[in-house]
Amino acid sequence: MRVKGKSIIVTGSGGGIGEGIARRLAEEGAQVIVNDINAAMGEKVVADIVKAGGTASFFAADVTKSADVKALVDAAVQRYGKLDVMVNNAGWTHRNRPALEVTEEDFDKCYAVNMKSIYLSTIHAVPVFRANKGGSFINIASTAGVRPRPGLTWYNGSKGAVIITSKSLAAELGPDNIRVNCLNPVFNPDTGLSAEFAGGPVDEERKAKFRASIPLGRFSTALDVANAALYLASDEAAFISGVCIEVDGARCV
Ligand SMILES: NC(=O)c1ccc[n+]([C@@H]2O[C@H](COP(=O)([O-])OP(=O)(O)OC[C@H]3O[C@@H](n4cnc5c(N)ncnc54)[C@H](O)[C@@H]3O)[C@@H](O)[C@H]2O)c1
Repeated sequence: MRVKGKSIIVTGSGGGIGEGIARRLAEEGAQVIVNDINAAMGEKVVADIVKAGGTASFFAADVTKSADVKALVDAAVQRYGKLDVMVNNAGWTHRNRPALEVTEEDFDKCYAVNMKSIYLSTIHAVPVFRANKGGSFINIASTAGVRPRPGLTWYNGSKGAVIITSKSLAAELGPDNIRVNCLNPVFNPDTGLSAEFAGGPVDEERKAKFRASIPLGRFSTALDVANAALYLASDEAAFISGVCIEVDGARCV
């Protein structure tokens, strides 16, 4: 088991990609804190993991709120005696539309969920990692942060900020044996955000258009991203920090 006994928080893991990451890490022996703002979804993921023989528990927290994120980190330490890895997966986007049509409210929400959450997890988890002589962040960014397309401008920018901030933190926190890495998934048509990314229902026409830009000829799945997260969370990646792994089937445009 590649992460046996590790205490790992996965934010926004009540559904979508985060759920896939939580399930995969638990399969490989991690003690997982499933976090979400949606308690019913999070509790269901925990129940499934426990039923399958894994270790997980739910903690409701809003990743945009400092007190919530502190409580989330504290919960991992209280429940599992330590925190080894924090997966910052919770994310949100404004609907695909021209940049000038995105409201200020949606802009603020996008940066709060995608980027302020990274600030808050850094502020609250780093002291715990330092006390533990090390730790690891895995930040779920996006191909949007490196190869932006029209219609998601403010979301794209927030993910670009996640990527460069992660690299900067990796440089700053390396001496504390704290690793900081990103994953860049390409479009996944089966999550809560898919229709927002696509700008409408994910019908066959929209799918065909997106698929045509992915040389490996299919979309990413939560499991694809989870397998990459598993590697970064494991000791096999002990010397890997400041990288951004693209889980994108070679999408180049
Ligand atoms: N689906 C894609 O095509 C795709 C592609 C690249 C990157 N991503 C990124 O993957 C991550 C997961 O997205 P997803 O596609 O699985 O979407 P999703 O909506 O299915 O999952 C996101 C989860 O985060 C939770 N969440 C939202 N705001 C929160 C908050 N403030 N505090 C705690 N939890 C909160 C939601 O309740 C939801 O369960 C996001 O960071 C997203 O930007 C998604």
